[in-house]
Amino acid sequence: MSIFESASHAATSPSARAKPVGAASSHLARRLQIEQLMQATETLEQDVLGRADVIHGLTQRPKTLPAHYFYDDRGSELFEQICALPEYYPTRTETAILQSCALAIATATGPCELVELGSGSATKTRILLDAYDQLGYALRYMPIDVSGGMLERSALDLLVSYPKLQVHGLVGSYELALNRLPSTRLPSRMICFLGSTLGNLKPQECQQFFRQITAALQPGEYFLLGIDLQKSQQQLEAAYNDAAGVTAEFNLNMLGHLNLRYGGNFDLSQFEHWAFYNQSEQQIEMHLKSLSAQTVQLKTLDLTVELEPGETIQTEISRKFSLNDIQQELQTQGLMSLQVWTDPQDWFGLLLCQLQ
Ligand code: TRP
Repeated sequence: MSIFESASHAATSPSARAKPVGAASSHLARRLQIEQLMQATETLEQDVLGRADVIHGLTQRPKTLPAHYFYDDRGSELFEQICALPEYYPTRTETAILQSCALAIATATGPCELVELGSGSATKTRILLDAYDQLGYALRYMPIDVSGGMLERSALDLLVSYPKLQVHGLVGSYELALNRLPSTRLPSRMICFLGSTLGNLKPQECQQFFRQITAALQPGEYFLLGIDLQKSQQQLEAAYNDAAGVTAEFNLNMLGHLNLRYGGNFDLSQFEHWAFYNQSEQQIEMHLKSLSAQTVQLKTLDLTVELEPGETIQTEISRKFSLNDIQQELQTQGLMSLQVWTDPQDWFGLLLCQLQ
């Protein structure tokens, strides 16, 4: 348990808030609250479900693995590197769009609490905070992330940079957090979902996700969505097959993660990264391709997996959107897009929506 963590009901259990060490951290801690949404039983439940997902994915045809297994420490580090790759245009394009429209967003919403799904890249958060700060608005930030460590680190960095900022982080899945979003003290709230993470959800999951967003917002409140747009196959495939091989390493790292986590013996040299644009589904698909006939064991899952040469395991999809289609879908869920911004090449879109 971290020194900054407090229980969900700090008022009823004052002892739950441990005293921070040192004057500087104590100063910051006054502006920081981190709420652990998962109870021990829920964590256990997640763990059981996580195992079942791996077993299910590896015993069906075609084989799949849940994308969240990308993100162990090494995976998170590699992902940061992907975002800076010359071929991987989304991060830098979205950042540039935000830079040009952040003031317009803050002006449109007025003072509001920023709720961010995935506390990852603080660069984008800072652009928004700067805009609200410039307009003299109160700064409240609610990051939501499954990784408490990541959340705390990025929150502390922000608290150092923004002396007026209050952070209330929620540790847990998006679903859990959206279900239990505490009420805000500011006049409004904006849920930010950036980085085209929406594209990593299947169409049905996407619908369900929008329902969770609308349930978490009050009418008049905001949803800021960043999505990657359809473009040439060549450019898309280059973005997920970088020359330096970082995306390949990121993909293969999932097998290393599973080895550690479940006593597995995946031989990483017997798999190959394979990413391509599926034109009819309008999505990038990432797979791991078996280079030989092999048998893999995951001891603690009591699982033996046979792979044929050339057989693939799908690890991720990344859907590419059309602005019109997504606006329509949002509209049917009661989310009206107030403004849409893109870069000059129409590679990436940022939508500011308001719940009707
Ligand atoms: N949502 C981003 C995208 O689809 C980031 C991402 C998720 C990603 N999983 C990935 C990037 C796997 C590269 C590889 O592009």
